[in-house]
Amino acid sequence: MSYNIAIDGPAGAGKSTIARAIAKRLNIIYVDTGAMYRGMALYMLRRGISPDDSQAVIAHCSEADITLKYENGTQVVCLNGENVNDCIRTEEVGNATSKISALPPVRERITALQRQLAAASDCIMDGRDIGTCVLPDADVKIYLTASSAVRARRRYDELTAKGQSCDLAQIQADMEERDYRDMHRMVSPLRQAEDAVLVDSSDMTPEQVMETILKLCRKR
Ligand code: DC
Repeated sequence: MSYNIAIDGPAGAGKSTIARAIAKRLNIIYVDTGAMYRGMALYMLRRGISPDDSQAVIAHCSEADITLKYENGTQVVCLNGENVNDCIRTEEVGNATSKISALPPVRERITALQRQLAAASDCIMDGRDIGTCVLPDADVKIYLTASSAVRARRRYDELTAKGQSCDLAQIQADMEERDYRDMHRMVSPLRQAEDAVLVDSSDMTPEQVMETILKLCRKR
């Protein structure tokens, strides 16, 4: 049986930074499930399909073959064989992803792939429904959050460091809208699993968050 750590939480809580560092420390793989949904959203945008047109997204979602591979420990998301890592991190793709990921046929395809990965390898997987739906028997479950002001500031710093121009207030508004959608959708909404440990990183450094989670892993 493989060893699985589940980290869920809202956008910008620091899940990917922490999960990547823990994966390195424990020598296990990091599965960024948001990136898989982002690959699917990119497919729709490229085909000119509006993320608001659920019928069209459902009709075309089986055309997008999303796979993951690892190159020197880095996750590579492939969309129909093409490495799309550099195309999926924009706010446009993020907002479209939040919409298309609410659709059950999209979730079924991607959830099946996530379960296969977790069964085959020791991993730390982050997302919105990992502890509640994808891996209900995960060895360690964390719900990582922070205030929306702190999360928006972190996303702003991340985007400006990459040279993308952006507006802090707009980022916070988009983030709150996205969180609302992710928490209130019918299928697999974002929520803390009953057996998950809540970690609020608003006033913590990444190192402190990592140590807190590693301690929980050692207890198991
Ligand atoms: O973590 P992220 O920002 O890359 O996620 C983008 C969107 O994908 C997020 O708004 C909701 C969706 N998502 C999801 O529904 N389930 C997951 N396990 C991961 C992400």
